[in-house]
Amino acid sequence: MWMSLFRTKSVEQSIQDAEGGEHRLTRSLSALDLTVFGIGVIVGTGIFVLTGVAAKNTAGPAVAISFAVAGVVCALAALCYAEFAATVPVAGSAYTFAYATIGEFPAWIIGWDLMLEMALGAAVVASGWSGYFASLLKNFGVYLPESLAGDQAVFNVPAAVIVLVLTGVLVAGIKLSARFNAVMVAIKMIVVLLVIVAGLFFIRSANYTPFVPPSHVIEGRGGLQAPLIQTLFGVPPVAYGVFGIFAGAALVFFAYIGFDVVATAAEETRNPQRDLPIGIIASLVVCTVLYVVVSLVVVGMQHYSSLSVSAPLADAFRSVGESWIATLISVGAIAGLTTVVMVLMLGQSRVLFAMCRDNLLPRSLAAVHPTYRTPYRITVVIGVATALLAAFIPLSAIAELVNIGTLFAFVVVAIAVPILRRTRPDLHRSFRTPFVPVVPALSVLASVYLMLNLPVETWIRFLVWMIVGAGVYFMYGHRRSRVAAEPEPLLEV
Ligand code: ALA
Repeated sequence: MWMSLFRTKSVEQSIQDAEGGEHRLTRSLSALDLTVFGIGVIVGTGIFVLTGVAAKNTAGPAVAISFAVAGVVCALAALCYAEFAATVPVAGSAYTFAYATIGEFPAWIIGWDLMLEMALGAAVVASGWSGYFASLLKNFGVYLPESLAGDQAVFNVPAAVIVLVLTGVLVAGIKLSARFNAVMVAIKMIVVLLVIVAGLFFIRSANYTPFVPPSHVIEGRGGLQAPLIQTLFGVPPVAYGVFGIFAGAALVFFAYIGFDVVATAAEETRNPQRDLPIGIIASLVVCTVLYVVVSLVVVGMQHYSSLSVSAPLADAFRSVGESWIATLISVGAIAGLTTVVMVLMLGQSRVLFAMCRDNLLPRSLAAVHPTYRTPYRITVVIGVATALLAAFIPLSAIAELVNIGTLFAFVVVAIAVPILRRTRPDLHRSFRTPFVPVVPALSVLASVYLMLNLPVETWIRFLVWMIVGAGVYFMYGHRRSRVAAEPEPLLEV
């Protein structure tokens, strides 16, 4: 029993699953498509909303350094993901990587964990989308009742509707999804570049002083709301100063979530060995540069202490009397958040698809549509579940679960890289993580550090979710697993 929890699925078997039979997806994406998917899923709530909170309450103008620090943490993880994605180019990302190295139960746990990043993340961002949508409608004189849109909604209609519409796009084909994504990404990039170029004219150098405001301890965050690091080691949360920069990095980490989702599209990539590392790393580099520049512009336009915490980019332009730019930014934010929701759901469907194909969840859900060549059943299941989540649950309270879920996956993938190097030195690696095991070790430390900065209640919710996941595995997947039934590489699917 104990050993069966750690049975692995060989890399060859995973690749063979991806190559043949009724559960095969179409390879149509290029490196550029992947990079645009990456930017589509990365640029969203983080830059359009969190910049304000992080600058005002935690880091001051040095929020730009927080963005750079979070970017470095993600870059370490991205280098690990890139090696895996190039070596095991199969839908499922961290789930598949863990199955090939650490074993079935850890792989299941990671697959279960990724639901926090992707399905929950999509629901959280969809509810943010509905807030922007409602505020844009107000510009045209249309007022949605608070019970039906925004953070206080009882039934968040716009959030549910956008999720269902995007589910339709995802079912209709990966190429169509890529095209839709490209249009939306173009809109949000134009808006982000507009913020940079137009904002440059309104920068006042006085707003940069002090660049790193003097630090002080934040009182009153105790109990379940205190960061775990405080509860464990008595380190109090600090605003501003050097520690404020790091605390800010833990907060703006959300802005980078998604670059790893690129790896889930491995089976739909024409030349995955070459293109996945490019897609993952290029989208991360582009976004890091944009984030650092945008945050520098925004804190230069408005003193950090007066930044808005809900719509900082738009409000910075309002504060200098340019309301039309503020309206354009809202349009960009809506386009931006749309693709975040869509690509997170895309990633979620590919991870669950891989889990269903392995029989750890019902295999019938892994059916691929005969015409659209998309995993339509699992996509619809995810769409409906995400729509319900976004409609009914007040999500701002549980958004930090998305961070912890993602960071946990980073930790596992970083640990898995040196393991696979040792267990399968023979595999062809078209991309190699540099300086193994130093880079994976740094990646683990950096991710764990950010996890420790999350509140105790987030940890409790995370552990509860994982225990539920373990229960589902023992009741369902453990007995049905295809790897248990067919331990040798399969000849046909
Ligand atoms: N990185 C994504 C965002 O900021 C999740 O919305």
